[in-house]
Amino acid sequence: MRTTILVVGGAGYIGANMVNKLLNAGYSVITFDNLSHGYRDAVIGGEFIRGDLHHPTDLAQVFKQYQIDGVMHFASFIEVGESLINPGKYYQNNVAATLNLLDAMVAHQVSNLIFSSSAAIFGEPHYLPIDEQHPKQPINPYGLSKWMIEQILADYERAYQLKSICLRYFNAAGAAPDPRLRERHHPETHLIPLVLQVAAGQRPHITIFGEDYPTFDGSCIRDYIHVDDLCQAHLLALQHLFQGGPSAAYNLGNGQGFSVKQVIDTARQITRHPIPTVLGNRRIGDPASLIADARLAITQLHWQPRYPELATLIDHAWQVHTHNTL
Ligand code: UFG
Repeated sequence: MRTTILVVGGAGYIGANMVNKLLNAGYSVITFDNLSHGYRDAVIGGEFIRGDLHHPTDLAQVFKQYQIDGVMHFASFIEVGESLINPGKYYQNNVAATLNLLDAMVAHQVSNLIFSSSAAIFGEPHYLPIDEQHPKQPINPYGLSKWMIEQILADYERAYQLKSICLRYFNAAGAAPDPRLRERHHPETHLIPLVLQVAAGQRPHITIFGEDYPTFDGSCIRDYIHVDDLCQAHLLALQHLFQGGPSAAYNLGNGQGFSVKQVIDTARQITRHPIPTVLGNRRIGDPASLIADARLAITQLHWQPRYPELATLIDHAWQVHTHNTL
């Protein structure tokens, strides 16, 4: 019988890419999603169950119906700014609802979890690049919700032997060739999709959120990672657990930072559009620079990013964007 993976939040951007990768790798896949932010057509295969993590009965039904070998959990709210205005929404969804999932796993003796964590758990960097040991001092409820779950997972392993790997994403971007798997957040807040909307004539300009940061050109620096590379790391992490590897946490990025202005310039070259900019205020909660030290994932999981170049990542996103909207 094929190994069966439950992908919670599998109708969202990263989750849907993961479902695709799991299917290609020969796994049997069940997607569980409430479609609050995901799209049914993004789930390109396997079983789909519309269910809600807030309803333990929805979860119990899935765990009773299927023999699940491992769980991947992508279902969370991701907007830093919103989490500061409405923290209750973030703790309810990202923490309380996640506990329902963990408890269902324990109740049904499913003991392998891959958890989507975030660079936001670190807060303002004390040093760069950021390795796994870096202090965890999140500066917003979103980051704290992720760090809470990481700590709760340690307790669940001690008490219930639930094994997990926490993957701390830096800036996920890029796209698979299949347009159904593209990034489509509403509202869109991420830099690369917004820049491409300008290039496609859907927005007049991109606002640069601050150019007085202590960086080489004054704009914020981020470590952009291709969604396919991110999903590959999940696959390796899952296999690591199935082979008896210990629970762990890994930072996932390319170890290279690009400024907001460099992203815009690269997009100009790829799209051949002038992409007008407007200078705006700093966005609350944005650290100046975030760069990952991903050597642990490279050595322990044998992860090797295929698309480390910013231009490739933007090009892939642009190809899919134009396919769909022009
Ligand atoms: N930016 C702009 N203009 C925009 C949008 C973004 O200048 O219109 C800037 C931001 O200020 C930031 C950079 O572009 O400096 C990247 O911003 P994104 O919103 O694309 O990504 P973030 O770095 O804010 O957030 C990402 C994830 C979060 C996660 C965070 C971890 O989307 O979920 O990384 O640090 F919490």
